[in-house]
Amino acid sequence: MQTVPLDFLGQLRRTHTCGELRAKDAGSRALLMGWVHRRRDLGGVIFIHLRDREGVTQIVFHTGTDPEVHAKAEVLRSEYVVAVEGKLALRTPDTVNTNLATGEVELVAEKIWILNESRTPPFPMEDDVDVSEDARLKFRYVDLRRPRMQRNIILRSQVSFAVRQYLYSQGFLEIETPFMTRSTPEGARDYLVPSRVQPGSFYALPQSPQIFKQLLMISGFEKYFQIVRCFRDEDLRADRQPEFTQIDLEMSFPQEQRIFDVIEPLVQKICAVAGFQVQVPFPRLTYAEAMRSFGIDKPDRRIPPMHPVEDLFPVDALSAHGLPLVAIHIPKTGVLSRKERDELKAFGTERGLRVFDDAKRLERDYSEPMARVRERTGAGEEDLLILASWPGEPAGHRPEETVYQACGQLRLFAAQKYNDRHRLLDPQRFEFLWVLDFPMFEWSAEENRWEAAHHPFTSVHDDDLEKLTADPAHCRAKSYDLVLNGVELGSGSIRIHRRDVQAKVFAALGFSDEEARRRFGFLLDALEYGAPPHGGIALGLDRLVMILAGETSIRDVIPFPKTARGTDLMCDAPAEVPERQLRELGITIRRSQ
Ligand code: AMO
Repeated sequence: MQTVPLDFLGQLRRTHTCGELRAKDAGSRALLMGWVHRRRDLGGVIFIHLRDREGVTQIVFHTGTDPEVHAKAEVLRSEYVVAVEGKLALRTPDTVNTNLATGEVELVAEKIWILNESRTPPFPMEDDVDVSEDARLKFRYVDLRRPRMQRNIILRSQVSFAVRQYLYSQGFLEIETPFMTRSTPEGARDYLVPSRVQPGSFYALPQSPQIFKQLLMISGFEKYFQIVRCFRDEDLRADRQPEFTQIDLEMSFPQEQRIFDVIEPLVQKICAVAGFQVQVPFPRLTYAEAMRSFGIDKPDRRIPPMHPVEDLFPVDALSAHGLPLVAIHIPKTGVLSRKERDELKAFGTERGLRVFDDAKRLERDYSEPMARVRERTGAGEEDLLILASWPGEPAGHRPEETVYQACGQLRLFAAQKYNDRHRLLDPQRFEFLWVLDFPMFEWSAEENRWEAAHHPFTSVHDDDLEKLTADPAHCRAKSYDLVLNGVELGSGSIRIHRRDVQAKVFAALGFSDEEARRRFGFLLDALEYGAPPHGGIALGLDRLVMILAGETSIRDVIPFPKTARGTDLMCDAPAEVPERQLRELGITIRRSQ
């Protein structure tokens, strides 16, 4: 496609970046390199905005410029790559560009080298142009040049640097763990890598470095961290990618408090990188409290909590089976229309709830109890106040939780739908919290057995050891999540360091001795060689940077992400491989009809 003669870089060196020159530099010489961001030709006087990572500087080619140089400036188009040398001049007051940090000066070009040309870009390099995500991902290398993506990726790098700086200062060692390994159960499916030398055998890409970091504690490294890629084959959403990055750490001899003592200042430092001050310590809620107040284990504290209010009403008046009656309060929604109330009601009903959406009517029928509901919730006349209960039979292994969960969904629906105008969900307001004491197990209806709520290496609460087999539904774990504005940022636990306890937990999860041995024999063995008490946590780096950058999808803070179908649109992966490669691996593809 080459249309203009190109110059060599040769020994040229840039003297400044495009973001650095100021009025005080006027009169000095400079050689800049970058991309032609914009080009204007005003009857022979040519202006280009030259852009590099650091900013934009205006270059001017006057009519009196060497004709050869001027001719080259004439052929420049968007995204051509050039080097320009000249003398820096002050702009006249009426031509100063206050939108540019370098706007008081311009480089008067004397020489130019065209280092490369560019096809017309698929979309302009501006942020405010609407471009489809497919186009952005297909031409990701161009999309990444846009200011917003440059900012996000640079922020991500700065966050990683701050993490390393802080954790090194706290005595953590950065240690790598393998990518080609055995399955690490974190609740998703594994990505498998076939072995050529052992046909029919597969490595699994790690869902997390969980077991290896525990082994590193057994090996005596005491404080480990890694900014590490994890791989999970699971349904993708705005905050999930098949490969994503964790800030992963593990410590020997910690109580939960020690982990919080490390993470809170770490998060504070990370937020400071993006210019946000956050207060520590973060509030703490047990899982049971979180469910009761928010109906979810990752509460968004920008919205007020829910309140159980069954004690204020005559028994069974609005609720049944001794299950909770829940007051949901969303501030300053104004009075909702009939249609809006019907919509709320339908949303709740679909989730099994009975929704009392008409506070006025409830106030007529139950004036005294409703006055106390208003007192308890703090709901005023301008606020939305609804009550909800469970009309059906108790459901699930923790029936109250089933009710709270449905109410929690209704609460979020109402807040997202009716409160945006009051910016209740202000993305710049950061409400961190720790959720503690998660249940040890979740019932899997699909598998018809208990599954680890966190992962099977999580320690049981000291007081609940007996419940492991006697009452698994109410057995608590020494696990904790870090939550920010309704997003699970991180998750961790104190681990099992005793072989006998680990064997019991495997048994409670329904693993036979043989299966436990087959899958985790090496860990069980390692626990017999002086494993210290240990614990840790992993924070989702992508989610953290997403929130700090004010984005709503982690795809916007990952340089080369996958689509919701797990496709890389740019390099067209996953892709079929040649038959020969499959043969070497001993793999035959069976296509469904
Ligand atoms: P967990 O599975 O909870 O814990 O993961 C920790 C954090 O990683 C982030 N995360 C993801 N981010 C983007 N895309 C995904 N698909 C994805 N899955 C998880 C979340 C989550 O909170 N080994 C344990 C940690 C430990 O116990 O130390 C673990 O991986 O922010």
